[in-house]
Amino acid sequence: MKAFDFSIEEGIANLCFDLEYTSVNILSFDVLRSLDKKLDELKEIEGVKLLKFTSAKEGIFIAGADISDIQGLKDEQRAYELVREGQRILSKISTLPFPTLVVINGACLGGGFELALCCDYRLVTQSPKTKIGLPEVNLGILPGFGGTQRLKRLTGLSKALELILAGKILNGKKAEKLGLVDACVPQGYLEFKEKSFIEQILKSPVRKKKRVGSLLDQYLPKLVFYYARKKVMQKTKGKYPAALAILDLFEKTQDKDVNASLEDEARAFSKLSITQTSKNLIGLFYSAEALKKEKGVKRKVNPISINIISVVGGGVMGSGIVFLFSKIDKLVRMKLRRYTQAGEAINSILKVYKGFIKRHRLTKNEVENKLAHISYTTGFNGFSQVELSIEAIVENQEAKQELYSELEKVMDNKAIIASNTSSLSISILSEKMRHPERFIGMHFFNPVARMPLVEIIPGKKTSDKTIVTAVALAKEAGRTPIVVGDCAGFLVNRILIPYINESIRMFEEGEDFEKIDKLISDFGMPMGPFVLADEVGLDVGYKVSKVLEDTYGQRMKISGILDKVYHQMQLLGKKAGKGFYLHKGQKREVNEEVKALVFSKRSFDEKEIIDRAILIMVNEAALCLEESIVANAQYLDMAMVMGTGFPPFRGGLLKYADSLGIQSVVVSLQSLSQQQGERFEPAKLLLDMAKNGETFYKEG
Ligand code: NAI
Repeated sequence: MKAFDFSIEEGIANLCFDLEYTSVNILSFDVLRSLDKKLDELKEIEGVKLLKFTSAKEGIFIAGADISDIQGLKDEQRAYELVREGQRILSKISTLPFPTLVVINGACLGGGFELALCCDYRLVTQSPKTKIGLPEVNLGILPGFGGTQRLKRLTGLSKALELILAGKILNGKKAEKLGLVDACVPQGYLEFKEKSFIEQILKSPVRKKKRVGSLLDQYLPKLVFYYARKKVMQKTKGKYPAALAILDLFEKTQDKDVNASLEDEARAFSKLSITQTSKNLIGLFYSAEALKKEKGVKRKVNPISINIISVVGGGVMGSGIVFLFSKIDKLVRMKLRRYTQAGEAINSILKVYKGFIKRHRLTKNEVENKLAHISYTTGFNGFSQVELSIEAIVENQEAKQELYSELEKVMDNKAIIASNTSSLSISILSEKMRHPERFIGMHFFNPVARMPLVEIIPGKKTSDKTIVTAVALAKEAGRTPIVVGDCAGFLVNRILIPYINESIRMFEEGEDFEKIDKLISDFGMPMGPFVLADEVGLDVGYKVSKVLEDTYGQRMKISGILDKVYHQMQLLGKKAGKGFYLHKGQKREVNEEVKALVFSKRSFDEKEIIDRAILIMVNEAALCLEESIVANAQYLDMAMVMGTGFPPFRGGLLKYADSLGIQSVVVSLQSLSQQQGERFEPAKLLLDMAKNGETFYKEG
C-alpha cells in the first residue's frame, strides 16, 4: 500500500504522507518499512539540502501508530523485535546528513509525534485540528518509538512525565510554549512561514533555547519521581500498569543517553503490549470509535440543526444542562419556577466555568461571552423561537405530562421536546402529547459537566428525525450518545440499581457497609455503592429504585433498610450532610445511627461480596441484551464505563464476565440463586452462551 509521495525541488525533499484508500495517516509497520527504504534511498541522492515531512490529509499529520498492530501483539519477544525495528527506522531520521523539518497541520499523535520528535525542527499551525501528544498510556502502553526519551530532552523531566502519564493532548500554541515544537503559526500563513523557516534553517541553523527542566528536575529528580508516583497511585490505585511502567522507565534511564535508553523503552513497551489491561483499553477505544460513527438510526436521515434551546427546571440537572449548551455557544433559555432560583442556578454554572478559567481552558472573556448566551424566564416567553426544549423538572409523571402539554402550546410545531427523566417511560410520558413523534428521552448523568454519557431513548412513536437530531446534538456538546430502549431505568440505572440494592442487602444481613465499599472500590469502581448512594442523594436513588421495583417486581425489591434510612430517618445523603456516612466537606465517617439499624453481624468472604454485587449486574446486563435494550455488548460496556465509572482496565462489565468465563458466571449465579432466591436466576442468554461455549467478545 502506498503511504507517501516523494518529490525534490531545489534541494528540498518533501516526503508527504498520504496513505492510500483512507482519510487518515497511520504509522503501521508496513508504512514504517516503506519509510525505511525511502530514507536509505535519500542518503544516496545528491544535492538534498533539507528533508521535510508533510501530510496531504485534511486535519491530520499522522494520527498515531496502527492500533490493530498493537492489539494483535500476543508474544512479548515478538513485540520487542517489532518495536526495536520501529525505533531503528525512526532513529534513522535523526542521523540523516541534512536538516529535517516536520510540518504539522492537524493531529500528530502517538507514533506520529514520535516521528516528529526525531526531526531537527517542528513547525505547527494554530488550527484547532492541530493536536500534539503521546496518549499511549490511555491504551495501557507507553510510547515505544523513542518518545519517552526524546520528549524528556525537549521539556525536562517533570513536564515530560506529566504529559506522558496523563496522555495529554496539546494544541499548537501550548505545544510551542512547552517546547515540544519550534514555532506555531497561523494556518493561513503556513506556506509563507514554512518557506521563510526553511530559508532560515539553510542560512544558519536556528538556534534553539536549551531547556533543562525545573530546578527539581536538575537537582532532586528523586523527589520528582516520588511525587509523580504518589499522584499515579492516588489516581489509579495501582490498577493501570502502564503508568507505573512509565515511571520505572524514566527512573531507570535517568542518566542514560537516548540510544542506550531505547532498549529499555522497547522492553517496557513489549511487556505492556501483551497485558490484558492493554487489550481491554484498546477494546474500549474501538467501541468509542464505533459509537462516534453511529447516527442513531440505520437509514439516512439528516438531523435538524439546533441553535436555540430551552431547559425547564433549575435544579442540579437543569443547571448542568444549561452549562453544557452555553459552553458550545447555543442560546439557552432557562425556565424556572421563581426568579429567586436563578441565583442558585447561575452560581452552580459559574462554579463550573471558574474551573475552566483556573485550568486555563477558557479565558474570562470567553466565559463572559458564553454566560451571555443564557437567559431566564418563569413563564414561556421566547419559547416560540426554541428549537429543542429539555425538561429537567421533578421525577413525577403527571407534572411532566402537564408541562409537555403547555410546551406544545407555546413551541413551534417543528420543535423537539426531550426529557431528562431517569426512570419514567418515554412512551408513557408522551401518551397525551399531540406530537409524540417529536418527543424523546435525553438522559444526562450527574454531574453533567463531567459525565460523558447521554442515553438517548426513543419512545414507540418517536420519529427517526428526532432521534438523529438528539444524537447529533449530544455529540456536538462533546458527549457520547448511546441509543437505548424505553424500559424502566433505561440501560445504566436498570443495571446499577440491583447492584446498590444487593450491597444494601449484604449490609442488612450483617456485613459492615464500609467494608463492602472498600472491596468494591478495590475492585476498581470509582467509589463503593454506599458512598455512591450518598452522592446521588437517597431521595433520588429511592425514587428511581421505586420505579424499578414497581416494574420488575421481586428482582428489584428495595431493601427494608433503604426504606428505613430514607423514610423513617429521612436521610438524604451528602447534600444534607447525612446518609450512610456523615459528610463534613470532603471528609466522611460512618453514620453509626444507620449502622445500629442492623443488630446481627455476619462477615462475608471477599469473593461472595464481589460476586453478589457484580454478577447481579452481569445478569441484568444479559437481560438487557436479550430484550435488545442496547445494540450490543460493546455499547453496553461503554455505557457502564461512562455512566458508572465501571473500571476501564477491566474492559467493561461483560468483558469482565468473559474474563471469568460464562460457564463459571452461570455456576456462581445458580449457587447464589439457591441461597438468595430468584433474583440471581441466570438469564437465558447466559445459559445459552454457557452451553455453546460462547463469550460476549470474539477475542482478546
Ligand atoms: P431537582 O430537584 O434538583 O430540580 C428540579 C427542579 O425543577 C427544581 O428546581 C424545581 O423547582 C423545578 N421544577 C419542578 N416543577 C417545575 C415546573 N413545572 N416548571 C419549572 N420548574 C419546575 O432535580 P434534579 O436532580 O435536577 O432532577 C431533574 C430531573 O432529572 C428528574 O427527572 C430526575 O429524575 C432527572 N435526573 C436526575 C439525576 C440526578 O442525579 N439528580 C440524574 C439524571 C436525571
